[in-house]
Amino acid sequence: MRFPALPDFPWDSLTAAAAVARSHPDGVVDLSVGTPVDPVPTAIGDALGAAWDSPGYPQTWGTPALREAAVGALARRHGAGRTEGEALDPDAVLPTIGSKELVAWLPTLLGLGPGDVVAFPDLAYPTYEVGAQLAGVEPARVGDDEPLPDGTRLVWLNSPSNPTGRVLDAGALAARVEEARALGAVVASDECYLALPGRGVVTTSVLDPVVHGGSVEGLLAVHSLSKTSNLAGYRAGLVLGDPHLVAGLLQVRKHAGMIVPRPVQEAMTVALRDDEHVAATRARYDARRDVLRPALEAAGLRVEHSRAGLYLWATADEPCRATVDRLAGRGILVAPGEFYGPAGGAHVRVALTASDERIAAAAERLAG
Ligand SMILES: Cc1ncc(COP(=O)(O)O)c(C=O)c1O
Repeated sequence: MRFPALPDFPWDSLTAAAAVARSHPDGVVDLSVGTPVDPVPTAIGDALGAAWDSPGYPQTWGTPALREAAVGALARRHGAGRTEGEALDPDAVLPTIGSKELVAWLPTLLGLGPGDVVAFPDLAYPTYEVGAQLAGVEPARVGDDEPLPDGTRLVWLNSPSNPTGRVLDAGALAARVEEARALGAVVASDECYLALPGRGVVTTSVLDPVVHGGSVEGLLAVHSLSKTSNLAGYRAGLVLGDPHLVAGLLQVRKHAGMIVPRPVQEAMTVALRDDEHVAATRARYDARRDVLRPALEAAGLRVEHSRAGLYLWATADEPCRATVDRLAGRGILVAPGEFYGPAGGAHVRVALTASDERIAAAAERLAG
């Protein structure tokens, strides 16, 4: 067997720091992974349960109701396709088994291979690089102000960013879209934190006409219900945008059996029709950011960007593992910035995905 050469799974390297943090007498505050801890909204869980008797194969394309709900949510929550004539096409929506699998397989599904380049931010969710490696294409880390390399066939955008919480405004997104189009590259905008804009921040979808100028050609928006609706355990994601690209993805995914279970499709439909629980989620994370950010700063760390999304990007101007170890000594586990690229070597990523009680405990420990 010749399995693809992939990096070691980053979180495996945190075992020693995790053991130290866990030995805290009041238990660990684990802020190293962005996994939701708040309950699944009841109506969403009920929809999953009500669809338990689903003996037949579900549609890879998703039910029409789910696809309509996805388009409706993007228009209501993010203004994409909000006016007539600009409406997004429900046929150009495809459910995914969470968004990580789509991120990991998109270069392969698009038929990219040796000689092609997949570009992604210099500080980025590790799976963009994994996806390039699985397809055998060249991965390229590209800073926000750097040009796309020649040969780029796919460009990943991610705003709000994991790990930095940085937000690209509509102008910055439009500039990248224009640059990608000039190269004939597909733009995939990973928008899993779009509905968590932070206080006073505006986030913009790549499918908003202010970004694409009236045509979604070459554009894909990648969405996830994991964080917005606390559904990481359901594996619920979506890709939507250019009808030709989505049709191509559907064709391959049908053959490959990449199908979202029917009960999950029903739960997603209910989640996408409701904005109240999204507002509650946003308020919760805003409150946690309000506690944790000043606590990190008072403890001598500098927090950069971090106005939106789920993470605080902090530095003590020292190698990131030293910061990880110091915080582990106080019972707080965070992720070293080097997980997200060499540019993160002096930073740590602190997730807001812990209960209010654990966030308050972290703030107390930082003050102690
Ligand atoms: C930027 C980014 N994209 C995609 C994902 C994958 O999320 P999921 O597979 O739960 O939809 C994550 C998860 O943390 C992420 O941070």
